[in-house]
Amino acid sequence: MRSFTILFALVSLLGFAGLARADVRELLTELLTKHNCTACHFIDKRKYGPKLKDVAAKYANDENAAEKLAAKIKSGGTGVWGQDVMPPQPQVSDADALALASYVLSLK
Ligand code: HEC
Repeated sequence: MRSFTILFALVSLLGFAGLARADVRELLTELLTKHNCTACHFIDKRKYGPKLKDVAAKYANDENAAEKLAAKIKSGGTGVWGQDVMPPQPQVSDADALALASYVLSLK
């Protein structure tokens, strides 16, 4: 009985984690499309800008990455991934910029 309970807890936990990951992807894709980030970024492939999975890997151990990247999404910049320039995106709200940064960082 006890092991059944543990097994059940484990299965629901794994199921939930899988669902959460799929949801995050969907939300991220929606926001990327809405703000036209997809003109330069793909999740799994380098385009003009860095592949977003590489961005997640680069900042995996940076506690302040979400705030940093949210600011960069709004202000743009260059020099971190090469000489290409990301233009400023002032049309992106602070909330959307932070959501985009958090979703990107959650990519694996
Ligand atoms: C015109 C092309 C272009 C568009 C549009 C664009 N980006 Fe970028 N992005 C780039 C380039 C080029 C870089 C690399 C900049 C660098 O090396 O500092 C970059 C870098 C990034 C980074 C990593 C920043 C860092 O300092 O490591 C993130 C996160 C990012 N972009 C998210 C977004 C999001 C979200 C959007 C949409 C709101 C977006 N980008 C729109 C070209 C673009």
